[in-house]
Amino acid sequence: MAGTGLFAEILDGDVYKYYADGEWKKSSSAKTVAIINPTTRKTQYKVQVKLLMVLKIACTQEEVNKVMESAKTAQKSWAKTPLWKRAELLHKAAAILKEHKAPIAECLVKEIAKPAKDAVTEVVRSGDLVSYTAEEGVRILGEGKFLVSDSFPGNERTKYCLTSKIPLGVILAIPPFNYPVNLAVSKIAPALIAGNSLVLKPPTQGAVSALHMVHCFHLAGFPKGIISCVTGKGSEIGDFLTMHPGVNCISFTGGDTGIAISKKAGMVPLQMELGGKDACIVLEDADLDLVAANIIKGGFSYSGQRCTAVKVVLVMESVADVLVDKVKAKIAKLTVGPPEDDCDITPVVSESSANFIEGLVKDAKEKGATFCQEYKRDGNLIWPLLLDNVRPDMRIAWEEPFGPVLPVIRINSIEEGIHHCNASNFVHATLQGCVFTKDVNKAILISDAMETGTVQINSAPARGPDHFPFQGLKDSGIGSQGVTNSINMMTKIKSTVINLPTPSYTMG
Ligand code: G3H
Repeated sequence: MAGTGLFAEILDGDVYKYYADGEWKKSSSAKTVAIINPTTRKTQYKVQVKLLMVLKIACTQEEVNKVMESAKTAQKSWAKTPLWKRAELLHKAAAILKEHKAPIAECLVKEIAKPAKDAVTEVVRSGDLVSYTAEEGVRILGEGKFLVSDSFPGNERTKYCLTSKIPLGVILAIPPFNYPVNLAVSKIAPALIAGNSLVLKPPTQGAVSALHMVHCFHLAGFPKGIISCVTGKGSEIGDFLTMHPGVNCISFTGGDTGIAISKKAGMVPLQMELGGKDACIVLEDADLDLVAANIIKGGFSYSGQRCTAVKVVLVMESVADVLVDKVKAKIAKLTVGPPEDDCDITPVVSESSANFIEGLVKDAKEKGATFCQEYKRDGNLIWPLLLDNVRPDMRIAWEEPFGPVLPVIRINSIEEGIHHCNASNFVHATLQGCVFTKDVNKAILISDAMETGTVQINSAPARGPDHFPFQGLKDSGIGSQGVTNSINMMTKIKSTVINLPTPSYTMG
């Protein structure tokens, strides 16, 4: 069970500690932040059971300073630790993580209302990601380049240049609430294999899951200071962390906060992924059963709270009626309820998210969208809703609900679909998209025309497998993720040039 047994060390009464210098510590701030269970929000104050009302410590700026200092010191010797040893520790952490998938998944269920099976999948996927990163790191960090000077005009063969990849220093990782374990390890593992130290600032909802995950790295035996986890509200310690002079690189996944971070961060490399209004373009020749299945998977898994969720369907008018009927029939079969029961649709993460989604729904109603189901909400639980005949004047045509509400826009040409996809006024339109057609040539032309980081042909958008490059265009992100890209991003090239004496050969 979460917070007990092996994990008891991370708790002090009902208060979760933070992790620094290889130890679980209680903050001197004595300040705590409540984490509200999205499902039981109405009764939480009466229930004293752990994880129904979880508290975590909010770190002080002084504590953050100490964490940065010890991360900086520890990194120096970590960078000198042989690569194979770094990989070995990561493999160990991955195994511990997978072994303890149940208590960590339990946290995900209680904290972010992730359906029970998906919660377990997230932890297992995270273990696999850590192991894969260790192996990939051994491969790509073990290689360098060798250049000779006489390949450039005017030079003799008097210089040998050896290049290798070196760590950046201290990496600050800020993952989002929807994958507090997986999107944390997707930053932690590349940072550590590359010889960096890492400071994790978990999301408030998801912090307890992240702390349990960090404990697995602690149990694996990483040296003190190599990994730290500081908790507190982003609004209170966020700026202090992201503008901290001790930070050498920031890897962030989340919403608009990323734009603010990119403006405030110093001269450090940034890796950012800020969401997507991922479009699904459906052509007349598409396999509509396949499309409907992918709209359900892509639009409604984890109640639409994924940056890669299908967030707008752009379907050719001639097949729209049939497609909408097929999707409606599938929506009717979705189970709605608590994550513990492994329902398909579970409560969204917070009341403010539910209110935001409701605002989009009301706006669509006022402007004449066709409701394929009745709009229903109970607390944070919103029933799945397909909105047909959505027009560009409706907010839902452009904004990300991050909930189980999906707009359908009927189009009369491919160009119209591409235009909508590319014309978004909102910054997030450019992460992923998908196109359904049996004509691969057309699909590739459409992929080329869509201004998104990835286009999936005949499948819903998705980040995984986790070694695939993953990136948004325009304001949707900076840099590219995926295991290999993340390792490379968290390193710098170092050159050592061996200067040889000028050759004293004679020609001819
Ligand atoms: O929410 C953003 C995630 O990167 C999406 O990942 O496609 O595996 O659900 P996913």
